[in-house]
Amino acid sequence: MTPRHLLTLEDFSGKELRPLIDRALVLKNERQAGVHHQQLSGKIIGMIFEKPSTRTRASFEAAMYGLGGQVMFLSARDTQLARSEPLKDTARVMSRYVDGLVVRTFGQSVVEELAAYSSIPVINALTDLHHPCQVLSDVMTMFEKKGDIASLRVAWVGDGNNMANSWIQAAGKLGFSLTLACPEGYEPDAGILAKSQAQAAKAITLGREPAQAVKNADVVNVDVWASMGQEDEQIARRAVFSRYRLDDKLMALAAANAIVMHCLPVHRGEEISESLFEAQAETIFDQAENKMHMHKAILEAFL
Ligand code: CP
Ligand code: NVA
Repeated sequence: MTPRHLLTLEDFSGKELRPLIDRALVLKNERQAGVHHQQLSGKIIGMIFEKPSTRTRASFEAAMYGLGGQVMFLSARDTQLARSEPLKDTARVMSRYVDGLVVRTFGQSVVEELAAYSSIPVINALTDLHHPCQVLSDVMTMFEKKGDIASLRVAWVGDGNNMANSWIQAAGKLGFSLTLACPEGYEPDAGILAKSQAQAAKAITLGREPAQAVKNADVVNVDVWASMGQEDEQIARRAVFSRYRLDDKLMALAAANAIVMHCLPVHRGEEISESLFEAQAETIFDQAENKMHMHKAILEAFL
């Protein structure tokens, strides 16, 4: 049987994504109530990471152990991938040892090729193009903090990066409105935007003005200006993005009691001011915690 992979949110309907959010909230409550889970006992996931990670790695590992399963972490540079062993061979070998692969890498084509040759589910733990598991847990956080997802006005301010692309797909599938403000030349993927706009129940709008995106928003999302792999562009990007910094003045345009979300790690004083970050820290660290609960829901569903 061909396994179902989680490579991008585009591959799922809203009706398929919504139960993951509900299940993650149940698993969160059960953990707080001390419920002991063993549903993944006897299962192993392999985690192949070609980029650094604190949260995604630790939360997937904690999620797997929390459901009674086990984890094999493979730093890509210590594997034969670093010596150019083909992905299609790696996929077929790993399929003989473990029950699922969680992969963080550069090109989306890497997770696609691994999935094409795996007889086990492949889960995208961040590529240059998407960060689907992160955005699923962020939507969970948004729901937890703000209720009814469909009525929410969500803003994205900054780079049209992997996170922005996954937010666009989430808006298309789950039916909340999304307004993005990105500088010229740093827009999200045009194909992803057009496709999600065509299927969305609420508007997904791309503009240039941070104030326009933040105005009346219930949830304001920011992320780093230079993502992993773009370290060489960091200085040039600082100049382009300086007017996209989220601070108290910009945030004052948002709806009353609006929340700020940041997937972390944060560059304080760049995409967000230190004072606004600290004022919103509770939400942002709840957001980080929710990755673990969402990853449990994902592992349970896909394994
Ligand atoms: N938010 C997130 O993916 O963090 P890590 O890079 O630490 O995994
Ligand atoms: N856009 C960021 C997200 C980090 C979790 C990056 O890709 O580095």
